[in-house]
Amino acid sequence: MIIDILTLFPEMFEGVLNSSIIKRAIDKNVVTINIHDFRTYSNNKHKKVDDTPYGGGAGMLLTLQPIVDCLKAINYKEAKVLLTTPSGSTYNQEKAKSLSEENRIIIICGHYEGIDARIENYIDEEVSIGDFVLTGGEIASLAILDSVIRLLPEAINASSIEDESFSYNLLEYPQYTKPASFDGFDVPSQLVNGNHEEIRKFRRYTSLKKTFSLRPDLLDKVMLTKEDKMFLNEISKSIK
Ligand code: 6GU
Repeated sequence: MIIDILTLFPEMFEGVLNSSIIKRAIDKNVVTINIHDFRTYSNNKHKKVDDTPYGGGAGMLLTLQPIVDCLKAINYKEAKVLLTTPSGSTYNQEKAKSLSEENRIIIICGHYEGIDARIENYIDEEVSIGDFVLTGGEIASLAILDSVIRLLPEAINASSIEDESFSYNLLEYPQYTKPASFDGFDVPSQLVNGNHEEIRKFRRYTSLKKTFSLRPDLLDKVMLTKEDKMFLNEISKSIK
């Protein structure tokens, strides 16, 4: 996969691209990431990339010229083009999965009060990473990039991904490691006696319970088994 990022702050990507799983994926040629400073495409003698909005109002907008010239220079028509903006549709795991199946993605990092709305003629989608406001689209782009790369075959151990499909849309069950007793706090007994069926039930039950308490909205998206429904019945009684 090839990912191109258009940004005014290329330095914000250095640490992330040079660490951990992303670095390894780049080194293994699982992904190629090109960072473009679109300011360098500005025709303005001061390399200006923003201007005041028509109709007045506070703040500055990104102008089209530097961004569109950069897009054209990298053959944007062959790629899926995203714009990060707090007013986009909310990004989620389903979108990550679908992006991971593309050959090429371009992410434009939004900035200032926004961007000339005619950018719509050059992009496929506007995405936000949640209902809060960041100073710019770089951190959102990094979140998207990270979530897509980990889904690429060969980026990480396939079984850690497969594991997720069964529990898709449920919050993860709690996990524990050694020692079995720490500072008076014990690992739940169901996990330490080696009974696989008991462990499976414990994990499913606690996963449903956590989702019920923290993200009940997600339960609507889960295909619940008979056992799940029984567990949820028990959970709702235990919580009331
Ligand atoms: Cl994509 N951009 C900005 N600036 N803020 C955000 C966001 C994006 N997603 C959530 N907040």
